[in-house]
Amino acid sequence: MKPVIVVHGGAGRIFKEREEGCRAGVVRAALQGYTVLKQGGSAIDAVEEAVRSMEDDPHFNAGCGSVLNEKGEVEMDAIIMDGKNLNSGAVSAVKCIANPIKLARLVMEKTKHMLLTDHGAHLFAQTMGIPEVPGEKLITQRSRERWKKNLEPDSNPEEFQKDLGTVGAVAIDSEGNVACATSTGGLSNKLIGRVGDTACIGSGGYADNHSGATSTTGHGESIMKVVLARLILYHMEQGMSPEVAADTALDYMKDTSRGFGGCYCCQQAGEWAARFLHQADVLGYCRG
Ligand code: GLY
Repeated sequence: MKPVIVVHGGAGRIFKEREEGCRAGVVRAALQGYTVLKQGGSAIDAVEEAVRSMEDDPHFNAGCGSVLNEKGEVEMDAIIMDGKNLNSGAVSAVKCIANPIKLARLVMEKTKHMLLTDHGAHLFAQTMGIPEVPGEKLITQRSRERWKKNLEPDSNPEEFQKDLGTVGAVAIDSEGNVACATSTGGLSNKLIGRVGDTACIGSGGYADNHSGATSTTGHGESIMKVVLARLILYHMEQGMSPEVAADTALDYMKDTSRGFGGCYCCQQAGEWAARFLHQADVLGYCRG
């Protein structure tokens, strides 16, 4: 099998001032994930590496750069899934962790569970020796300004919500295994404790060697209504190509919930697609 990795830096309009940085960030993440694949690494290692790279990049709404909740704090969600055995791990509403995707992988590999949230996720991170970072270190000037603007009485939060920046990756390794990973700070000025699509298996991502892998981005509540990632794979199982499956599922989401978003999917045979409603995402890919 020729390895493939596709990474994305979020749905919707990209504000001009961060366009260049976002494009460079997805290219770097795709190359880092692809290096893992080229060196014989697994799809799950590659997607983790690509997403970690974007969590460390302040241009994206994940890790450092995440948008802020109603209290002005970073609270993040992440998921990772291995198509070889349907194992997955996720965290939601985590604070003071530089790389939620690494914690999600540890949930997958070191616990009997699939999703840990908030305080429990923190206790688990401590047990695993993951260092806490001061919350302030994850906050950028951009996310603080956006949060402040959203608090103004005449603000239009929907404007900002269309510049989401959730990050994700799907990959196929040389043995034909597929995997996905997605990470986000969620919605700006969200309620404390809000869990978005990203942490929910089947919504923020899904991977199954029998059908393929998907990572989604966009308005979480709309994505959860249609369980978007799993819906796309269902259409692929019915014989649709990744592109047609993604368009069919996204159209359904638009018609039923009027939400916006995008998705990245691949099949074991190597075919992949990046599709979105509204404006394009930033996207990087590498193929062997
Ligand atoms: N898809 C990102 C979020 O709504 O949390």
